Amino acid sequence: MTASNRIVLSSDHAAIELRQAIAAHIATRGWTVVDIGPMTAESTPYPKHGEAAARLVASGDCRFGIILCGTGQGIMMAANKVKGIRCGVCSDTFSARMIRQHNDANMLSIGVRVVGQGLALDIVDAFLSAQFEGGRHATRVEMIEALES
Ligand code: RB5
Repeated sequence: MTASNRIVLSSDHAAIELRQAIAAHIATRGWTVVDIGPMTAESTPYPKHGEAAARLVASGDCRFGIILCGTGQGIMMAANKVKGIRCGVCSDTFSARMIRQHNDANMLSIGVRVVGQGLALDIVDAFLSAQFEGGRHATRVEMIEALES
């Protein structure tokens, strides 16, 4: 099992069901799922789950992270505070593809109260099947990284 095949999944209490649906979906596509919970519906703050997933991506343990909360926004904000993380919230497949192609995003955030399950799975597929284009986009990603130091 290599990091290049591992995807960490996390959420807050609002999005457990969708997270599990995404886990099952990406497993059928050959990804190794690292689901770090939570496993119960008890209220739990999204920042700690965003951070935990982001640390596994930033350390190189997982190639990508997919995180969820009610809107996708709060958990994305937390994840983006971890150095090396580029996470976007997506509610459409175009954006999901573009954050890989142009921004070299390594994490995707989805809002369970914003999109239904069918669209969420399409968004995940768009994100995971797109490739970073490099070139002029690499220079811009380097500018983002420079903001971290
Ligand atoms: C939890 O109710 C809610 O605030 C959270 O899931 C998310 O929407 C935050 O951004």
